[in-house]
Amino acid sequence: MKPINVGLLGIGTVGGGTFTVLKRNAEEISRRAGRPITITVVADKNLELARQVTGGGVRLTEDAFSVAADPEIDIVVELIGGYGVAKELVLKAIENGKHVVTANKALLAVHGNEIFAAAQKKGVMVAFEAAVAGGIPIIKALREGLSANRIDWIAGIINGTTNFILSEMRDKGLSFAEVLKEAQALGYAEADPTFDIEGIDAAHKATIMSAIAFGIPMQFDRAYVEGITRLDASDIVYAEQLGYRIKLLGIARRRERGVELRVHPTLIPARRLIANVEGAMNAVLVQGDAVGATLYYGKGAGAEPTASAVIADLVDVTRLHTSDPEHRVPHLAFQPDQVRDVPV
Ligand code: HSE
Repeated sequence: MKPINVGLLGIGTVGGGTFTVLKRNAEEISRRAGRPITITVVADKNLELARQVTGGGVRLTEDAFSVAADPEIDIVVELIGGYGVAKELVLKAIENGKHVVTANKALLAVHGNEIFAAAQKKGVMVAFEAAVAGGIPIIKALREGLSANRIDWIAGIINGTTNFILSEMRDKGLSFAEVLKEAQALGYAEADPTFDIEGIDAAHKATIMSAIAFGIPMQFDRAYVEGITRLDASDIVYAEQLGYRIKLLGIARRRERGVELRVHPTLIPARRLIANVEGAMNAVLVQGDAVGATLYYGKGAGAEPTASAVIADLVDVTRLHTSDPEHRVPHLAFQPDQVRDVPV
């Protein structure tokens, strides 16, 4: 069967992981998708890096806009990050009738309403499993696995960098600055680590989960956001002595008059499962009215765990692209023209 052609924008940590896993598991992936998924072109400012990662045999360009407009490309994978050029590229790809897969939580949390509306109008999909909790399929769980439920609340460790910092400070007595450097070297931290340590990255992810769970627009600007920079090593020690662990949680809770959205360090009794999530691991608790409490655990950052989610979206989008358009399952987080503006 004719392959689905993918244009990959950005060959950094996640882009490289996506390329590697797609190549390694090509046979299984194409069987699951119903046809081969081929990265036809890679766009990156660093062509030498792109050449090294791809090993040749793939068209390379510095011009990401040409990929977003390329008539041969069916799906554009945006792994550039940030809200600047990434937003223009995603909108351009949509305008040109391409489906988009993105790991860009900042972009969706801040401009998702506009992007989903554009995709809806054009009849294309925007898939974003990799934007929240790396390899954990939490978007699918919220949208599909728990679709029978009225979700009451979500609470999660959704930033690997800060969880890694808190764990290492506690276990090894290392300083905040030392562990942050290590997290950066391991590829967990954002390009601007302020987003991690000030809770902004977790708030982006909580915003996205709340939109899906509660059918509300993205309302990042209305979230309460507090990171871990005001914590002292002694806070961690005292918490431990009192039988607690400190975790940076992202919380979205249904209230009578809207949805509460917040990110802040939280004291959790040490015997709780979520208190024992260590290092760069992520965990998300979801409470639904029918299912009760469910817990999702896994790697929240890093090349291959995030690539796992990017490729799962590629498989999904390929299946939907191949199916009869009239019978496609709606793939967006919500129908932009039907959402109620629920106050946060
Ligand atoms: N900087 C993010 C984290 C990467 O540490 O969780 C994954 O989104």
